[in-house]
Order: sequence, then structure tokens, then C-alpha cells
Amino acid sequence: MARSMNHSVPVIAIDGPGGAGKGTISQAVASRLGWHLLDSGSLYRVTAYAAHERGISPGDSEAVSEVARALDVRFEHNGPDIRIVLEENDVSNSIRTEEVGKMASLVAADPAVRQALIDRQRAFARAPGLVADGRDMGTVVFSDAGLKIFLTASVEERARRRYKQLKDKGMDVSLPALSRDMKERDRRDSERLVAPLRAADDARVLDSTELAIPEVVDLVISWRNEVFPL
Ligand code: C5P
Repeated sequence: MARSMNHSVPVIAIDGPGGAGKGTISQAVASRLGWHLLDSGSLYRVTAYAAHERGISPGDSEAVSEVARALDVRFEHNGPDIRIVLEENDVSNSIRTEEVGKMASLVAADPAVRQALIDRQRAFARAPGLVADGRDMGTVVFSDAGLKIFLTASVEERARRRYKQLKDKGMDVSLPALSRDMKERDRRDSERLVAPLRAADDARVLDSTELAIPEVVDLVISWRNEVFPL
């Protein structure tokens, strides 16, 4: 696989299953450090969403990877909020549904789609640093990241957090259905042949079930200070 990493830029890779708090933690850490942020899951979600809008089935590898390669997507920062703009349409909320999450995990199991998104992800590594959130940041995309974290939590706690997050966005969701979908997506992400969800051998495993967000953020920042001395 072609590698084009910028070794001079410090990278914190945060991987783990859905609902573990990666998005919230990554955003808070990036903002505390003034570093760039890559929410790689949103690229898989936007790909799945764009393919669906065009009537392409998630199993049509060639067509979906072409969509991934040609994605016209922008991440617009407005304070702590990030707007995701696909071909001039704000899709920030539409890509967050569980339905799109499921389609994303289907297209993400396709090696051609993953390959089509790899350079786009690596291009986020710019000075002064990058916090990258996903499933394979530490194992594949930024395999030489200076700090790798595998953030997890019990499935009950993850379903509860995701439920609250979607409810807060005004979405109509059911906790049992969410919990079922989450287990199914965990299974698909962990069992796929290419870039399966797993902790890198040199990752620090962080179980956040019993921890509050600020505690997790402080821990990540303290590790960052240890790994990338100021
Ligand atoms: O993190 P999020 O729930 O937004 O990701 C949606 C889906 O995209 C995941 O279930 C996973 O299948 C896929 N994904 C991936 N690799 C990443 C990030 C997300 O395969 N680095």
C-alpha cells in the first residue's frame, strides 16, 4: 500500500467502537491543543450517503469507490461546531442517523472504498498536529502515530450515550433498537477482513465506562505531554 505520511506532524490516533465517545473526546482534545481534527467515520458516512442518494447499492464496489474518490466534501469549522458540506448541501445531521451508520459500515468493509479514502485522510496531518478518530487510525492510516489510544466502554453504556446524543439532535430513536444495531455494527467492523476494528499492538486501551468526559480528556492530554514533550 502506498504510504504518504508526514512524519514531522504529531498524530494522536483514537480508535474504538461506536458510542465510546471518540468524537467528543477527539474534538475536545484537538480544541485544547489547537490541533486539526479528522473524524474519519464521517468520510465513510458521507460516502454511503452520497452513494445512496445516487441509487447505488452499498455492494456495488466499483461505483461506491468511485463516489469515495470523487467526494466533493468540506468540513467547515465554526467555533466548536463542524459543518459537513457535501456538494454545497449541509449533511451534518443527515449522516448521523443509525441507518447511514449501518450503510457506512457496509461500504467500509470494501477494500477498494477504504483505499479510495486513504490519501484524503492522510492529508489531514498538518502542523501543528492531528487528532484522528476512527477504527483503523492507529493500525493502518497513521500506523506510525506517536500516541495511539483504543477508547472503549461497555456496550450498554455506549448505546446509552448514542441514544442521548441522537435524542439531543431531535431524532426519534429507541434504546433497544440502538443497542441491537450497535452490536451488529461492532460485529461487522471487528470481523471484516480489511482493517478490522482492533487495538493496535502499541495502543493504550482506555475504558471510559466509569469516566466522565473531562477525566478522559485530561488523561489523553497527559499522555500527549508524556509522548510529545513540549
Ligand atoms: O464512527 P462512525 O460511527 O461515524 O463510523 C461509521 C462507520 O464507518 C463505522 O461503523 C465503520 O464501519 C466505518 N469506519 C471505518 N473506519 C474508520 C471510521 C469509520 O471503517 N476509520
